[in-house]
Amino acid sequence: MQFHNNKEIILIIDFGSQVTKLIARRVRDLGVYSEIINPLAFQKLKHFNNIKGIILSGGPSTVTKNKYQSVPKYIFNLNIPILGICYGLQLISKLHGGKIKTSKRRREFGRAQIFKKKNSKLTQSFLNSKNSVWMSHEDAVVKLPKGFKTIAYTKKSKFTIIENTQKKIYGIQFHPEVTHTENGEKIFKNFLFLICKIKKKWNIVSQKKRLIKEIRQKVKKDRVICALSGGVDSSVVALLINKAIRKNLICIMVDTGLMRKDEFKRTYYIFKNRYKLNVKLINASSIFLRKLKNISNPENKRKIIGNLFVKIFEIESKKFKNVKFLAQGTLYPDIIESKSFSGSKTSKIKSHHNVGGLPKKMNLKLIEPLKEFFKDEVRMLGKSLGLSKVISQRHPFPGPGLGIRIIGHVTSEKIKILQEADHIFINELIKNNLYNKIWQAYAALLPFRTVGVMGDSRTYEYTCLLRAVTSEDGMSADYFSFPKEFMDKISNKIINNVKGINRVVYDITSKPPSTIELE
Ligand code: XMP
Repeated sequence: MQFHNNKEIILIIDFGSQVTKLIARRVRDLGVYSEIINPLAFQKLKHFNNIKGIILSGGPSTVTKNKYQSVPKYIFNLNIPILGICYGLQLISKLHGGKIKTSKRRREFGRAQIFKKKNSKLTQSFLNSKNSVWMSHEDAVVKLPKGFKTIAYTKKSKFTIIENTQKKIYGIQFHPEVTHTENGEKIFKNFLFLICKIKKKWNIVSQKKRLIKEIRQKVKKDRVICALSGGVDSSVVALLINKAIRKNLICIMVDTGLMRKDEFKRTYYIFKNRYKLNVKLINASSIFLRKLKNISNPENKRKIIGNLFVKIFEIESKKFKNVKFLAQGTLYPDIIESKSFSGSKTSKIKSHHNVGGLPKKMNLKLIEPLKEFFKDEVRMLGKSLGLSKVISQRHPFPGPGLGIRIIGHVTSEKIKILQEADHIFINELIKNNLYNKIWQAYAALLPFRTVGVMGDSRTYEYTCLLRAVTSEDGMSADYFSFPKEFMDKISNKIINNVKGINRVVYDITSKPPSTIELE
């Protein structure tokens, strides 16, 4: 386990499902601390003190093959309640002598209706006459293991929810962690409070004191350097460390010139004047622009921006003496998604810029106070540290900034055009109370011109693409449906106020198949 220290905990064993992370979130949202662990690390666990319940996740493995991912059988005799979800249910069944088959007839993907057979603690106030749940399985249990009973079934699978109350083992074939399962949180509530009998004790704000104490113990009298972008994560890291060590924290803000209109400077003054941080602003916009000249390949652009950022940050940080630590806003999902953590073949592996990025070259020790937490939790922590709403509720913004929202070549003229259009879009979202309903919104500039007519004249100008999505964690997303009046207004406002744009389009693709960013 990564962070477990004497807290009561629900342990989630990750078999590689894309949505394991959501299980951890659901549990934490209910006020209970949870951690995800991979099956190999789990096998090495020496003690189970404080583990109040174990959840076995879904995953792409199949117990119908000779080799499959598993857990040691003794965990079923520890008197710790166990809940298996999807693959977890199949694994429980297999290890207790049940039969599982891969079968076209029994596979279920998407929505399914389940029917109640029997009452259970696990399904209290969850099961009604027409529960709609989310399925994603090809294998199905065809023979129930000894000692288990069926709680619910679907038309296609006989054993959708099963239990062995004596051993406190439960299994469900569907995914209660995804929002498509109606009232899915009730399953977790029942498992945590009725079955594991764990107390609701955990919340991020109660962790603040511990985090500050740990930073003080780790840093002592040394100095910490931090790249501050003005995004939620780095801002919360800076405020937290500032609370712990004050002037021994040095923040560096590198202005790449690829930020939203006026946002960077405004943020700088907030940190300097309101929060009294020791912050240095580096204006590097001209060098970024120079290096990006005539580059249109998205990956090349990303690399140039990333490398240059590191280089500038390195040069600036060397100007300070006695710096021993580098602070980073790494979050729990970054850790879960990094290869070293999950060890699983199939879970999404993203070489995230926060994990293993800056420090290798700089020879500094890392300090990552947010690595136990999800984004929403970090927002709450920020609030409790006095972080202004303007920053804590800010939509995610990618490191390469407008560099990857100006498709094709980046020029100063295009940056100005895009900044204006984006500014109008975001301000209208705020004015119309839409900003907080959307996970991320932005304007992009497409790399071609089209013909239009304004007044009596022909125009030949750029197209602005607007994107607004709802999402839980950026891994998947849906486009946001705006009322027609809002779209009319925004299109008009951009065309009338931004010289250089004569067409506005709205991106109506979800992720997948698209990504949130265009490049
Ligand atoms: P995609 O485009 O992959 O984006 O669907 C998912 C989320 O990640 C953000 N993103 C980045 N964030 N550095 C970042 O800090 C990056 O290089 C980067 N690229 C994408 C994107 O804005 C969205 O929130």
